[in-house]
Amino acid sequence: MSSAMTASVANASLVNAYALHDTADRAGVARWSVSALAIVAAHVALIAAGMAWVASAPPPGTMVPAIMVDLTPATSTPEPQQQDIAPGPEMQQAEEQAAPPPEPLQRQAIQEQIPATGVPVRMGRVLDGVAPHMGNYGERGFEQADAPEASEDEVVAMLKDSGAEILVNFLPVGSQQAVEFYMECALKAGVAVVNCMPVFIASRPEWERRFREKNLPIIGDDVKAQLGATIVHRVLSSLFRTRGVSYNRTYQLNTGGNTDFMNMLDRNRLESKKESKTDAVQSTLAEPLGADDIHIGPSDYIPG
Ligand SMILES: NC(=O)c1ccc[n+]([C@@H]2O[C@H](COP(=O)([O-])OP(=O)(O)OC[C@H]3O[C@@H](n4cnc5c(N)ncnc54)[C@H](O)[C@@H]3O)[C@@H](O)[C@H]2O)c1
Repeated sequence: MSSAMTASVANASLVNAYALHDTADRAGVARWSVSALAIVAAHVALIAAGMAWVASAPPPGTMVPAIMVDLTPATSTPEPQQQDIAPGPEMQQAEEQAAPPPEPLQRQAIQEQIPATGVPVRMGRVLDGVAPHMGNYGERGFEQADAPEASEDEVVAMLKDSGAEILVNFLPVGSQQAVEFYMECALKAGVAVVNCMPVFIASRPEWERRFREKNLPIIGDDVKAQLGATIVHRVLSSLFRTRGVSYNRTYQLNTGGNTDFMNMLDRNRLESKKESKTDAVQSTLAEPLGADDIHIGPSDYIPG
């Protein structure tokens, strides 16, 4: 029994070897070889594409740094000018050959007066957009409308029906749930987003991925005012560096008289704002400062 099996296995091997290497069927061998090569090449291409995709994606949990959008048409940290040279012969020489100082930046009026557009203002979804203390300031604070709040489906329908292409988010600092609600609506309505405030969306890989999958652009998070404390702090930091002065600690206390600062009186809403403003200054330093050596944030609301 066992020798019969051995014989039949040996027979089968011979038949296979003969079938593959029969010199009489060279065309068959060539066809087989080309097919085998094509299959191997297809596998290699698939594996290479997979590896390239994995390499291009940030590792899970990676936080892409938030980008504070600079609305100024000038560079954020100007190059040092000749006037920055220390007193001495070099400065004297520079002054003799000094080019005239650059013209001040021209303010570009995008639209002097915006005529009434007829765009209807509709009730949204409040969630955590309105801090309780904002109701204590009458007209200066937030007076909440008593109209029924919109559902997600209604907001998505409003976005679609209006033909909007971009959702611009200017919700109050600390409105985590409200911002996430409107981001879901933008994704469902197929609308791009410019996130002008510091709830981190564009800089969070999970949100970024969802917008990328829908082929929707998203820019953010936060914007810088034309001439505010952030740009002044950044310019001072880079001035120190270009003049060879190092410092161990820095702080920036912001005060303001608008509803933004009134809202930020609730310290619990500030975490992301502090992070965004601190990153904007840290990014100009050669060596980032330790968390205890840099303090940047709103300190008070002063009615203006
Ligand atoms: N103004 C600037 O120069 C500037 C610069 C950088 C960042 N920002 C950020 O932009 C945001 C807005 O600033 P602002 O000065 O326009 O403040 P603001 O208080 O004048 O405006 C916020 C508006 O959001 C509305 N709102 C609140 N919750 C809502 C919700 N759930 N749905 C719909 N609307 C809601 C409020 O009624 C209010 O009209 C803030 O987060 C601020 O930090 C502003």
